[in-house]
Amino acid sequence: IVIVVDFGAQYGQLIARRVRDLHVYSEIVPCDITAEEVRAMAPAAIILSGGPASVYAEDAPSIDPEILSLGIPVLGFCYGQQAMAVALGGEVAHTEKGEYGPAVITRAGESALFDGTPGEQTVWMSHRDAVSRVPEGFSVTSHTEVCPVASMEYPEQRLFATQFHPEVRHTEFGQTLLRNFLFDVCELEPDWTMDSIIEDSVEAIRAEVGDDRVILGLSGGVDSSVVAALCARAIGKQLTCVFVNHGLLRKGEPEEVEEVFTKQFDVDFIHVHAEERYLELLAGVTDPEQKRRIIGTQFWKEFFAVAEDLAQDGRPVKYLAQGTIYPDIIESGARKTGGKASTIKSHHNLIPFPEGVHFDLIEPLDHFFKDEVRALGTALGLPDYIVHRQPFPGPGLAIRIIGDVDAEKLNILKNADAIVRAELDAYNERLFAETGERNSEHAVWQYFAVLPDIKSVGVMGDERTYARPVILRAVESSDAMTADWARLPYDVLARISGRIVAEVPGVNRVVYDITSKPPATIEWE
Ligand code: XMP
Repeated sequence: IVIVVDFGAQYGQLIARRVRDLHVYSEIVPCDITAEEVRAMAPAAIILSGGPASVYAEDAPSIDPEILSLGIPVLGFCYGQQAMAVALGGEVAHTEKGEYGPAVITRAGESALFDGTPGEQTVWMSHRDAVSRVPEGFSVTSHTEVCPVASMEYPEQRLFATQFHPEVRHTEFGQTLLRNFLFDVCELEPDWTMDSIIEDSVEAIRAEVGDDRVILGLSGGVDSSVVAALCARAIGKQLTCVFVNHGLLRKGEPEEVEEVFTKQFDVDFIHVHAEERYLELLAGVTDPEQKRRIIGTQFWKEFFAVAEDLAQDGRPVKYLAQGTIYPDIIESGARKTGGKASTIKSHHNLIPFPEGVHFDLIEPLDHFFKDEVRALGTALGLPDYIVHRQPFPGPGLAIRIIGDVDAEKLNILKNADAIVRAELDAYNERLFAETGERNSEHAVWQYFAVLPDIKSVGVMGDERTYARPVILRAVESSDAMTADWARLPYDVLARISGRIVAEVPGVNRVVYDITSKPPATIEWE
């Protein structure tokens, strides 16, 4: 394992991703980790991340100097270089100009870290402070016009650092540097592969669960589906998948989920038809937050009713499997205290266990990033439409029907949405075919139909209509935090509009939402 000591939110995640891309397992740890804790983890290497602070600021995060003398190779980036310098008796100072963005470094002397890279190369810088005096034993291995110590090292102690960010794609040879560090300096093997991940996960689940039973709430989303597939491989019919069908999924989805988990995987699958109950509960409710509450609360009621039934046969269910993924863990604050115990507790609190009901949690994806989860899903044989499913809100179509929800509106929305998806799936496929990559940055990231609570006048044939509009929403984004409306070609827009009005009774108009996030949100409610 390679640990990434995180000096500031977000910096560590990208580094861990890059290490994992090289098939070496990597985990993020908080920067207040002690030498004792590091020794207990026995990592093969340590990487110190960048961070937003100045090393001399009050409350600036620092590293326990003892960590640097455990004999474990260390590589520091940006703030990590400065923290290393200060911890070992060097000095950091303000530079006059600072460097933000691309910069060219000039190498000096031999360095295992830079092996196979040219004397001048482009790197990504983002700093105002820089090392002004290297600690004893260190030599400077590169500089820029502004920064006298763009990198430094003490190879005999296997301590290396760069002022620039090798983890950023704009650093021309960033991945080479990382490869040199991991495979030459640390002599690691690139053996963290999909096969080994599946094998280890399956074994871990078996060891934990033993002969006990596991229950899982299957939503049709990527995470819960991958957990189900993984548990199916590990424990087969000891797993019961509970699919609570609230009737608010997209057209065809309940059937797809049922098909996959009854035909393809050997698990116990229970399809709870709760459509009518949800419609009754949602009748007349217009407030989005109240819709969310009702849907969330009812899910757990339906779920625990099944769990209770299952317990009747005398073989109680001991575990609840959840699709928690690594970013959830990092962001839930568990990283502050470290260790898994605290994580599990914090998640427990989110589940409204009824009186007297208790499950132990298993979270087999809690160390994986989203695209690793997708790769895992593919390797386990899940179909593409599940693995590459776009984000879909838990409360489903209920928050895409503005105002109150009823069966007629749901039907209209499902049909209109199916056309939007079919047309934009095809559009994305064309883009993938042209660019040769699935995650083309021009691909539309999330797309769907919204049904507003108004009607407008139209004319169809010789008849005047008074019917509903459908709003088309299609955005480009990478993380849903910000988004821009997709610049779809007019002919694609025309096809969608034409098909919806022609094929979906009750709709006479289609409009396109051309607002980015912010100021709007992706969803309408
Ligand atoms: P907004 O509308 O806030 O959405 O820009 C950001 C992303 O989150 C999804 N979303 C939800 N997901 N439960 C969910 O599980 C929800 O209540 C919910 N609301 C929004 C949305 O689809 C988008 O991808």
